Amino acid sequence: MDEFVTLTYRGKEVKLPLVTGSEGEKAIDISRLRAETGLITLDPGYANTGSCLSAITFMDGEKGILRYRGIPVEQLAEKASFKETAYLLINGRLPNRDELTQLSVRLNDHSLVHTDLKAFYQNFPRASHPMGILSSMVNAMKSFYPELDTLEEEINITVTRLLAKVRTMAAMSYKISRGHEIVLPRPDLTYCENFLNMMFDTPVTPYEIKREAVNALRVFWILHADHEQNCSTSSVRMVGSARVNLYTAISTGIAALWGPLHGGANQAVIEMLDNIHNNGGDCTKIIQRAKDKNDPFRLMGFGHRVYKTYDPRAKIMKKMCDNLLAAIQITDPLLDTAKELEEMTLKDPYFIDHNLYPNIDFYSGIILRAIGIPTNMFTVMFAIGRLPGWIAQWKESMDDPNWKISRPRQIYTGHQQYDYVPIHAR
Ligand code: SDX
Repeated sequence: MDEFVTLTYRGKEVKLPLVTGSEGEKAIDISRLRAETGLITLDPGYANTGSCLSAITFMDGEKGILRYRGIPVEQLAEKASFKETAYLLINGRLPNRDELTQLSVRLNDHSLVHTDLKAFYQNFPRASHPMGILSSMVNAMKSFYPELDTLEEEINITVTRLLAKVRTMAAMSYKISRGHEIVLPRPDLTYCENFLNMMFDTPVTPYEIKREAVNALRVFWILHADHEQNCSTSSVRMVGSARVNLYTAISTGIAALWGPLHGGANQAVIEMLDNIHNNGGDCTKIIQRAKDKNDPFRLMGFGHRVYKTYDPRAKIMKKMCDNLLAAIQITDPLLDTAKELEEMTLKDPYFIDHNLYPNIDFYSGIILRAIGIPTNMFTVMFAIGRLPGWIAQWKESMDDPNWKISRPRQIYTGHQQYDYVPIHAR
């Protein structure tokens, strides 16, 4: 039975249909609102506004649930490869053995980067942030790979190129930033092994690919792979709605993710923990700052627009910190600081009342440090993980027959009309 809500405005009753999702979520379809009432809605930050119907990722913020195409992220983190997860998000189902083999072959065949693209790196200032470089390089890919005949063929090859080359480009930017020779991808290594090898192998000190580090990277990327309509994904959809090419849409997602309130938080968390640790390890001051209404400081790695309970991804990350550090027999004082900070917030009424819990970025940096990733590359690692999700969301919006260019409205609060004043009279 169709459900609807009734809006009464200036004596007129307007019935607005309700849309119900497969998990029972409901939304008011306001597509007729302005035509029927002359009214629009206003929702800064879109906290109460759905932008689309999507079958890719389901989140329940109150229960701390996250599923990719219906599969709980906990199961994928335990059993799947990152390639399988990317295939699942983009194609809507897990690949069979042949499909997975074909994907591996395609990713290998397209894992090299055009030699002229390498020249771009030489012209970035040495201190450039890797996220700024990556966003520019991905956008530049459009210039190197002309369109193919059919849209279907074009999209498929572009998806493969992005998944195969973004990982290589990230490792290249690290090597070049250190003045090291670039290490090329190898056909005998898996997706995660190849990245670590391209990052850390050198001609004089061959990199030993450790199983624990590969597994930690696999889980890290799976946990970052998609998260419904977050800021960077919404940016990809918004830019994609203008029917721009996929490289440029992904470049927009990288740019949005760079923000410290979004993907940039994983770097900000480590800098915050480092600061606490270097100043005697006292967490009380930073917690006071986070609670101070007059201080714009936010406790990095805490809070979430959707999760009002513990981020399920943070739970997995926290457990993986302990397992990874024990397996590779290292300790990290910042993990102890992180656990102490979390302990204090879980008992603090401010954090309890505001539903502020650790999010994915709170423990993820500890894992990246243990693997040897430099702090300024943390958000690049997030971007490589999120890439399949961005691609899946972009494809879903392109395939939507009802999709149209995104163009929100506004409520104008500026001057009412007045006439131009000539310069001599001002
Ligand atoms: C990611 O959307 C996604 O799914 C994102 C992501 C993904 O996978 O794509 O999950 C990845 O971006 C995770 C978030 C990483 N960012 C951080 O860790 C930065 C710190 N967090 C905050 O900036 C904040 O919690 C946000 C940005 C994550 C969410 O902000 P909201 O939903 O806009 O919440 P808000 O700013 O309106 O805050 C609501 C209240 C405010 O207090 P009141 O004015 O109501 O009294 O909670 C307070 C805020 O002051 N608050 C915090 C806080 N986060 C919110 N206070 C102190 N420290 C914090 N971290």
